[in-house]
Amino acid sequence: TVLVVDFGAQYAQLIARRVREASVYSEIVTSKMPIAEMLAKEPAAIILSGGPSSVYEEGAPQLDPALFTAGVPVLGICYGFQVMAQSLGGTVNKTGKREFGRTSLSINDGGALLASMPNTLNVWMSHGDAVCRAPKGFQVLGRTAGAPVAAFEDRNRKLAGVQWHPEVLHTQWGQQVIEQFLFDIAGLAPSWTPENMVTEAIDAIRAKVGDRRVLCALSGGVDSAVAAALVQQAIGPQLTCVFVDHGLLRQGEAEQVRDDFVRITGVDLVVADETERFLTALKGVSDPEEKRKIIGREFIRTFEATARDLAGDRGIDFLVQGTLYPDVVESGGGEGAANIKSHHNVGGLPDDLQFTLIEPLRHMFKDEVRAVGLQLGLPEEMVWRHPFPGPGLAIRIVGEVTADRLDTLRRADAIARHELTAARLDREIWQFPVVLLADVRSVGVQGDGRTYGHPIVLRPVTSDDAMTADWARLPYEVLEKISNRITNEVPEINRVTVDITSKPPGTIEWE
Ligand code: XMP
Repeated sequence: TVLVVDFGAQYAQLIARRVREASVYSEIVTSKMPIAEMLAKEPAAIILSGGPSSVYEEGAPQLDPALFTAGVPVLGICYGFQVMAQSLGGTVNKTGKREFGRTSLSINDGGALLASMPNTLNVWMSHGDAVCRAPKGFQVLGRTAGAPVAAFEDRNRKLAGVQWHPEVLHTQWGQQVIEQFLFDIAGLAPSWTPENMVTEAIDAIRAKVGDRRVLCALSGGVDSAVAAALVQQAIGPQLTCVFVDHGLLRQGEAEQVRDDFVRITGVDLVVADETERFLTALKGVSDPEEKRKIIGREFIRTFEATARDLAGDRGIDFLVQGTLYPDVVESGGGEGAANIKSHHNVGGLPDDLQFTLIEPLRHMFKDEVRAVGLQLGLPEEMVWRHPFPGPGLAIRIVGEVTADRLDTLRRADAIARHELTAARLDREIWQFPVVLLADVRSVGVQGDGRTYGHPIVLRPVTSDDAMTADWARLPYEVLEKISNRITNEVPEINRVTVDITSKPPGTIEWE
């Protein structure tokens, strides 16, 4: 394990991901953790992150210098670099030259850390203080206008540091800096591969579950599918998956869960086909929040009843949850109830249905979940599926939800998705909602006749986390193809529009 010590910067997760991209397992710990506790984790190396403080400020996070004599290789980044310099007897000064953003770095001697890199690089900086003199025993590797010592290393002690942020995309050769530290200075081997991730997860599941029973709710989404597939590999016959089919999924999605997923993984799947129940409950309802409430309530009722039936007298001890590592880090990192993000679909189970959670993805980033999914033999379209809201198409029909309207939207949506895939744009687009304006009618002309149909809205967006989003600039040819096909093949629709609103002020979904 490589420990990434977080000094309160937003960069710690990024660093941890870069280390994982180098196929080395990493974990984030807070800089407040006592050194003894860090060392007890037997880290193969430690990376100190950047942070917002100045090493001179009162209350600036400090680090016990014992860290540097424990024989563990350490890389300091930005603030971590300055802490290292100061602890070991170098000098950190306010130079008066703040550097933010892109900065030109001159490498005078690459050492091991910057070996085989060009003499000048554009790197991403964010600092006010600077290391002016390296500690004894360190070799200075490069400088920038504002940082006389911008990188150093001591190969004997396996210590190194850089003033800039190698983890950010805009830094040239950034990933190489991290890899040269891990492999050439710390002497680690790249062993965190999808294969090993699967093996480790399976071992952990077996150790936790023993011979008891496990329940899993499948939603059709990436996380629940990969989590279920992992648990299935680990303890096969003890697992039962429940798929509540609310009839609000897109074309082919329910079949993908009921047929493809079962065939590939061999899971024992119980399908609660409740389309009628959800449609009846949604009858006459147009208000979006009302729709969400109804769907949430009916979902829980169905899931609960199914779980009770399955539990019978033997009981079921565990419930699988697709929690990812970023959720774990953001909620404090520890084990326990405080870290449980309420599952969109399985929030609020009643008290007498108590499960211990089993979270096979809690050490993984999203890209690792995908890699594990592929390793387990899940198909690309399942593993790269876009996020999809729990209430499904119900919140993409503006107006009352009916079987006919769902059918119309499904056909239009399938065309849009198909053309996006055909244009190889799936991975550039975060989500591509297609929205039916069911209460709006527009006049059109087709053949010799006047039509009076419905408009739909295409809402392709780019985003990193759904908190903010931008409208995607899909190529005109792709939009044209989608528009032609939908108006020709879906008679109920006679007008195709594109939503060009960013988030904020718009949201990704229309409801
Ligand atoms: P908005 O529309 O708020 O969506 O920009 C942000 C992300 O959340 C998804 N979303 C939902 N997911 N239940 C869910 O499970 C919901 O009620 C819900 N509403 C929005 C949306 O698809 C996007 O990824």
